[in-house]
Amino acid sequence: MRSFIYGALSCALLCWLMAGSALAGDLCVECHTKVSPGQVQDWQSSKHAGEDVTCSTCHGEGHQTADDVQNAQLPDEALCAECHEEQFTSFSHGKHNFGWTSLNAIPGTHYAPDELIEGGRGCGGCHNMGIKTEAQKAEQLAKGYHYQTNSCDECHTRHSFSRKEANNPKACQQCHMGYDHPQWEMWSSSKHGTRYFAQKAGDLPEGAVAPTCQTCHLPDGTHENHTAWGFLGVRLPLPEDPQAAADRVVILKALGVLHPETGAPTAILDAVKSVDMVRLDQVSWQKERDKMLATCSQCHAPSYAKEQLDMGDAILTKADRLMAEAIETVAALYKEGIITKPEGYPYNYPFILAMMHTNGANWDENFDGYSAIDQILFQMYFKHRMRAYQAFFHVNPDYAYWYGWSMMVQDLGEIKHMAKAMRADHQK
Ligand code: HEC
Ligand code: HEC
Ligand code: HEC
Ligand code: HEC
Ligand code: HEC
Ligand code: HEC
Ligand code: HEC
Ligand code: HEC
Repeated sequence: MRSFIYGALSCALLCWLMAGSALAGDLCVECHTKVSPGQVQDWQSSKHAGEDVTCSTCHGEGHQTADDVQNAQLPDEALCAECHEEQFTSFSHGKHNFGWTSLNAIPGTHYAPDELIEGGRGCGGCHNMGIKTEAQKAEQLAKGYHYQTNSCDECHTRHSFSRKEANNPKACQQCHMGYDHPQWEMWSSSKHGTRYFAQKAGDLPEGAVAPTCQTCHLPDGTHENHTAWGFLGVRLPLPEDPQAAADRVVILKALGVLHPETGAPTAILDAVKSVDMVRLDQVSWQKERDKMLATCSQCHAPSYAKEQLDMGDAILTKADRLMAEAIETVAALYKEGIITKPEGYPYNYPFILAMMHTNGANWDENFDGYSAIDQILFQMYFKHRMRAYQAFFHVNPDYAYWYGWSMMVQDLGEIKHMAKAMRADHQK
């Protein structure tokens, strides 16, 4: 340790004597070869090293010894933009740019332990996407968290910043997996995914094709990502079919974006709009759909591809029939006073955007928990409805049926059964 400090001191002295930024870069490398050798090796392997983009280009020259580490700058996306304006601008128009803001728009987020949000080992680990405002940065620092300043290192990780790595579908896996968005699991076990792996293993003739996440979602080097339906799988205008329209309205009420009694748009709709969570008109929806169809048509007949995507839309309508019935069953319990409205719910109505699973810190002695039936409703929407329709788009039969549709049917049965029992109990 002591010799390390002497080393650090003599390094600093050397730097002071040399002065000048190119040399400052060498100084950083010299000391960090001892402090964090793997990091230096990574940087040396990057294109940046060959282009004189050194440690101090990104971290400044304010820190030059072991004692002034706090002066090192942690670069945000604006720094990358100085040399990569095209990717920065494209990224800023896409959905990834809303990751942090949409996370913070969810009420439950603010009850979750900070380690899971600002600390980045839960919701915040995946939602560290998007250019943060000064206020968002200040809030994070005030809570004692220093990192997660940059979203450009989420696909091509620091310090190799490799384009090849970002083109590997595994670059998306950490975030696009699991409970409510298992795109990795669906794609990797679909014919598209297995063909990709077969091709990589050399088991297909040379030149054989297979689509990756990037082929369909970030084509031609774009950094702007958008899909027609988006995550919540609701959109405007309402469908023409009266039953389908009524079902969508029930779902919009349970998302809190329409008032459960008047049906009028609420303030939550404005929040949802501001982070582009739902497509609000046919034109913006169709634009994304047409782009996707053009991509499928590189390898399939357009009519084949269209039939596949239309089926995804159709299953969503059928899933919404089940969903609306479940919501109305639970809503009746609220109306009859069998369930008491939890504090923080906007209306005396189920509120699935509360994401109650996250509300750990909300449990105090006066809080007897969200009703079990609400929890099933939440699971039906976020886990099973997501799978039922996302699996159609990612061509995965098992997720579509066993993990999706079939589980929704089970949830609905359970909800109806429980509601009956709760009502009988209440009347006693
Ligand atoms: C004399 C040794 C030394 C020199 C020279 C040096 N560093 Fe460091 N640097 C350190 C040590 C030690 C740490 C780790 C401190 C810790 O983890 O507590 C560090 C940490 C950092 C950090 C992380 C900051 C943070 O908030 O976590 C960055 C970035 C950094 N150095 C960049 C640079 C750059 C750029 C230069 C050149 C301008 C440089 N270093 C020169 C020793 C040095
Ligand atoms: C192209 C820009 C760029 C270059 C060049 C660069 N860094 Fe970084 N570095 C980053 C980014 C981005 C972060 C992550 C900041 C964040 O999200 O908080 C980071 C984080 C760090 C950290 C703190 C996190 C950790 O993993 O320890 C250290 C230390 C660090 N860099 C050292 C270095 C050193 C040493 C060099 C030169 C060998 C270097 N950096 C070159 C962009 C760069
Ligand atoms: C001072 C200018 C500069 C800054 C700042 C800078 N870069 Fe670069 N970057 C370059 C140059 C030059 C190249 C090499 C271009 C080439 O070979 O076509 C490059 C290449 C890249 C590549 C492609 C590497 C490959 O494998 O082909 C990525 C990805 C990248 N940079 C990301 C970033 C990120 C992320 C940041 C911010 C943390 C950043 N850069 C900051 C200049 C910069
Ligand atoms: C494993 C990574 C991961 C974790 C953990 C995670 N999310 Fe997400 N979240 C995502 C991804 C990926 C999407 C986009 C999924 C899609 O479109 O299918 C998303 C979408 C969302 C959306 C919708 C955004 C929109 O505009 O459509 C909200 C809101 C959200 N997450 C909130 C949360 C909250 C709150 C938590 C913590 C309880 C959380 N997320 C935890 C990765 C994650
Ligand atoms: C969601 C993943 C993802 C994020 C986040 C991301 N990139 Fe990329 N980036 C990619 C992919 C994929 C490629 C490869 C594109 C290709 O080869 O066509 C790439 C390539 C690049 C390249 C190399 C371009 C070239 O033609 O050589 C640069 C530079 C770059 N990105 C900069 C950035 C910057 C700056 C940010 C942040 C504003 C960023 N990226 C954020 C996925 C991402
Ligand atoms: C063959 C093309 C294709 C591939 C490969 C693909 N997707 Fe998709 N993805 C789609 C289509 C089609 C949709 C639905 C678009 C719409 O709403 O019309 C979609 C939707 C999405 C959504 C929005 C929510 C949802 O699931 O419907 C996310 C997020 C997503 N994909 C991520 C990924 C990730 C991550 C991968 C790789 C693991 C991937 N996709 C692979 C075609 C693809
Ligand atoms: C660090 C986590 C992370 C990584 C890595 C990541 N994403 Fe995402 N992605 C998210 C989050 C979070 C969202 C939701 C953003 C929001 O809140 O609007 C999202 C949204 C999306 C959407 C938009 C879905 C919609 O609502 O229309 C697509 C498409 C997508 N990602 C594709 C990709 C692809 C392809 C990759 C890999 C190249 C990738 N993502 C890598 C976290 C990530
Ligand atoms: C880069 C080429 C490529 C792209 C782009 C592509 N596919 Fe495929 N797709 C394939 C290949 C190759 C197969 C396997 C051939 C087979 O099933 O006989 C396949 C298979 C399929 C299958 C049949 C799976 C099965 O179980 O038999 C469907 C459905 C499908 N693709 C739909 C789509 C849709 C929808 C899109 C656009 C969102 C799309 N594909 C984009 C290459 C592609």
